[in-house]
Amino acid sequence: PLCPLPAAMGSGLHRSLLPTLLLVLLVLLPEAWGDCGPLPNITHAEPPEDEKHRGSFRVGSKVRYSCLGGYVKRPLLSDTIQCLANSQWSNLPEFCGRSCPGPPRVHFASISQEDGMQNFYPVGVSVKYYCRLGYENTTGQLPTSTCFDNLTWSEVPELCQSECLHPPTIDNGMHNGTKDTGFVRGSTVAYKCNDGYNLVGAALLQCMAGDQYQGVWSKPAPECRGNCLLCLSCWFLSVFKIPIFSFLCESSNQIILLKE
Ligand SMILES: *[C@@H]1O[C@H](CO)[C@@H](O)[C@H](O)[C@H]1NC(C)=O
Ligand SMILES: *[C@@H]1O[C@H](CO)[C@@H](O)[C@H](O)[C@H]1NC(C)=O
Ligand SMILES: *[C@@H]1O[C@H](CO)[C@@H](O)[C@H](O)[C@H]1NC(C)=O
Ligand SMILES: *[C@@H]1O[C@H](CO)[C@@H](O)[C@H](O)[C@H]1NC(C)=O
Repeated sequence: PLCPLPAAMGSGLHRSLLPTLLLVLLVLLPEAWGDCGPLPNITHAEPPEDEKHRGSFRVGSKVRYSCLGGYVKRPLLSDTIQCLANSQWSNLPEFCGRSCPGPPRVHFASISQEDGMQNFYPVGVSVKYYCRLGYENTTGQLPTSTCFDNLTWSEVPELCQSECLHPPTIDNGMHNGTKDTGFVRGSTVAYKCNDGYNLVGAALLQCMAGDQYQGVWSKPAPECRGNCLLCLSCWFLSVFKIPIFSFLCESSNQIILLKE
């Protein structure tokens, strides 16, 4: 005949050992079954310093990698890895690509809005520039810069020319620079005096490259002087062969003898 189980023993197991076992199991479960090992190596990227050498991660842990020097996160690709329910790390695409730093800034042009908004500039990519206010694209070409293989940018060609301000107005005279648009380098304005006035100085002014931001006129504006006691034209002087005045005529067309 079978002996009955000792009642004391069965109830003893239930009362003391089983809860302890369950507790131990509960504590061990996530560690033992749902755990990811050390972080995988991802090319050109690294995890944060404090998680680099950790041996295990709970299911659901997320770790964000950052790109190494010279590499930048490609747009639209994830940089965060996750410990999945099957104790495997999720797959990360190679999200770090070689990229130039931000494109160079130049005084004569600004980067086009679409190119300026990017933060990933792979080798070979070109960015467009538009001339800044006060500069004009006289060649019909807009400046560009290209990301070289050594992650530097090509020099931005100076295709935008600085403009001169409107030429100064003068008393008793006028100039033909009346257009509204800027005066690009090389453009000229001609001054002339009202009747009865004589022009002293340069009649033609040319817009030249000035400092970085503005073109300058080649000469100061001329003056229109009236009240001549005697105005001798060079034609008169050369016809009558007056040597001292002929010499003076070399530099200007007209010699003006003022009253004062
Ligand atoms: C990651 O790379 C290091 C050396 O850079 C190596 O010691 C380690 O074993 C690699 N780990 C994996 C998971 O490939
Ligand atoms: C300068 O660039 C603008 C576009 O920004 C273009 O419309 C214009 O035709 C260009 N000027 C010249 C002279 O090519
Ligand atoms: C990068 O490469 C370009 C073209 O090959 C070269 O002109 C430039 O000098 C290089 N820059 C550096 C810093 O090496
Ligand atoms: C003003 O006249 C000069 C000389 O005739 C000419 O070369 C120049 O183009 C003119 N400038 C303007 C803005 O019309």
